[in-house]
Amino acid sequence: MKKLRVLIIGAAFSADLHSDGYSRILDKVDIVGICDRNTDAIKSLAQRYGFEGFEAYDDIDTAIANCDCDLVDICMPNFLHHDVAIKAMNAGRDIICEKPLATTVEDAKDMVDTAAKLGKHIYYAEDWLFAPAFRKAISLIESGQLGKMLYVRARECHSGSHSPFAQTIKYCGGGCMVHLGVHPVTFMLAMKDNKWSEISAMTSGGGENNILHHKMEGEDWSGAFMRFDDGTYATLEANYITVGGMEDILDVYCEKGTIHVDLSFSGPVKVFSIPGLDYTIEKAEVTTGWSNVAVDEKYSLGYCGEINHFVDCALAGKDAQVGLRGIDGYETLRVINLIYKSAHEGVNIKNKK
Ligand SMILES: NC(=O)c1ccc[n+]([C@@H]2O[C@H](COP(=O)([O-])OP(=O)(O)OC[C@H]3O[C@@H](n4cnc5c(N)ncnc54)[C@H](O)[C@@H]3O)[C@@H](O)[C@H]2O)c1
Repeated sequence: MKKLRVLIIGAAFSADLHSDGYSRILDKVDIVGICDRNTDAIKSLAQRYGFEGFEAYDDIDTAIANCDCDLVDICMPNFLHHDVAIKAMNAGRDIICEKPLATTVEDAKDMVDTAAKLGKHIYYAEDWLFAPAFRKAISLIESGQLGKMLYVRARECHSGSHSPFAQTIKYCGGGCMVHLGVHPVTFMLAMKDNKWSEISAMTSGGGENNILHHKMEGEDWSGAFMRFDDGTYATLEANYITVGGMEDILDVYCEKGTIHVDLSFSGPVKVFSIPGLDYTIEKAEVTTGWSNVAVDEKYSLGYCGEINHFVDCALAGKDAQVGLRGIDGYETLRVINLIYKSAHEGVNIKNKK
């Protein structure tokens, strides 16, 4: 069987999430190149996941020009997504791009248009849609057993990004809504096939106006109300003021039933430790006393399923499912920018059809 040849660009946090996924399907994927200007990060990533026989590159242009691959997986800071994607597609490669698709709606549009012009695929890395617990919720909704969906409340929140680029809008595109809110927004748009009608939002505003993170240019708290074409309402929230570990929460209210999913904290393993543990769950500040300990965290959060889906689609020359295509990354960024517009200008936004 033909294997998919992948070049991973960026060898840090998100590359680790993706590599866990690749390492479980080495029967259908070959990691043929890894690029990062920090070559120690390349070595340690490869060692953690047992990748061998790949080329290591410290320069993006050289990697794209010289690496004989089918797909380029972009695990780089947000401001580099657009340029790297355009170069990779022009070199004849499909791409996986981490969220958000770009830092501006214009750049995201350019990526989608370039893919269409060149006949290449953009696989937009949205892990929520592959988290097994969220997939269970989706299948229950789709089964019709709970009746019509009426209202969804969804949020991703934690105490702040580890990345220095996340502090400056030019490098990242905004605050917690673009970094974290991107997940609930894409989730809802995918549930409703991008058919929304109205947005009303508020954010903490960024910088001095923030609740806690005054040195961060983007907002540290944000909430949006959305109405969809079929009449479903949603409250979508993201913030950086949540200590105690990352919260990924989904509540779905239907005519004949309700679903609650607590993705990060609902695992079956609770541990009490006096000295503390090496690790419990993402973004937990302390590990002493009683902790929830994640079980196969990257799988439960959806990264492994997402990577497996992209590899299958790229091998078959197909688009990803709704929610994980380039166009979905573009629609998400467009909605997030309208959330910012609504919050900054204090206006209610109607979708122009
Ligand atoms: N889906 C998720 O839940 C999730 C989680 C974390 C991050 N992300 C996304 O992943 C992307 C990357 O984030 P991260 O946290 O992995 O970033 P990071 O800052 O941890 O790592 C980026 C890597 O890129 C390398 N790099 C930066 N500029 C370079 C250049 N010009 N040439 C070569 N190497 C360069 C750095 O050395 C670093 O190792 C971001 O877009 C982020 O939004 C997604």
